[in-house]
Amino acid sequence: MPADVPAVLETIAQEVRSCTDCELCRSRTNAVPGAGNPHARVMLIGEGPGFHEDKQGLPFVGQSGKLLTELLAEAGLQREDVFITNVVKCRPPGNRDPFPDEKAACSQYLNRQIEAIDPDVIVTLGRFSMSRWFAGQRISQVHGKPKKVGERLIVPMFHPAAALHQRAILPEIQADFRNLPVHLAIVEEERVKREQGEPEPEPTQASLF
Ligand code: URA
Ligand code: SF4
Repeated sequence: MPADVPAVLETIAQEVRSCTDCELCRSRTNAVPGAGNPHARVMLIGEGPGFHEDKQGLPFVGQSGKLLTELLAEAGLQREDVFITNVVKCRPPGNRDPFPDEKAACSQYLNRQIEAIDPDVIVTLGRFSMSRWFAGQRISQVHGKPKKVGERLIVPMFHPAAALHQRAILPEIQADFRNLPVHLAIVEEERVKREQGEPEPEPTQASLF
């Protein structure tokens, strides 16, 4: 882990605020680097800033953000406990989907944020954010099911905006958030064991004989 995580995150945020690496820099009011606790164990990744996020330079401050705060409470978490960011840091005009070249140009910032924070759990919100770890999979089938990547769990979830548009999704997303403490406890227990130098459990393997 880098010695001074807040300083590393601030350096990234400053680069984002003056970034001109893709076309989205032309239409933005403010870039939205991300916000939250530099020592968070849970990081949430949305798609990209919307209207209000672009105005304020902060992630998830509009209607989706209000719902996200309520969903975090389902997991016993406050916004101050977690770090929230997006796949692209500048608002796509009219909230269109980000283009592949825009996502590629912006990925270095997200990569560096993940490396600096080194969270135990990453929650992906929506299809764009999940595609990096769950390529070709359907969110309706994998939501809420964690995937181990290295020593970390990636938990794909519906985007809060989906629940605002389709009320049937709300109970599903609530249930997924309610399960978050269970996932977190599992990774944290493993981390404590690792730090105490206990041997890792043998990975289960189908025998050939
Ligand atoms: N939707 C997102 O994906 N991100 C935000 O920051 C706000 C809304
Ligand atoms: Fe730079 Fe990302 Fe903004 Fe594009 S979206 S200008 S890559 S910060």
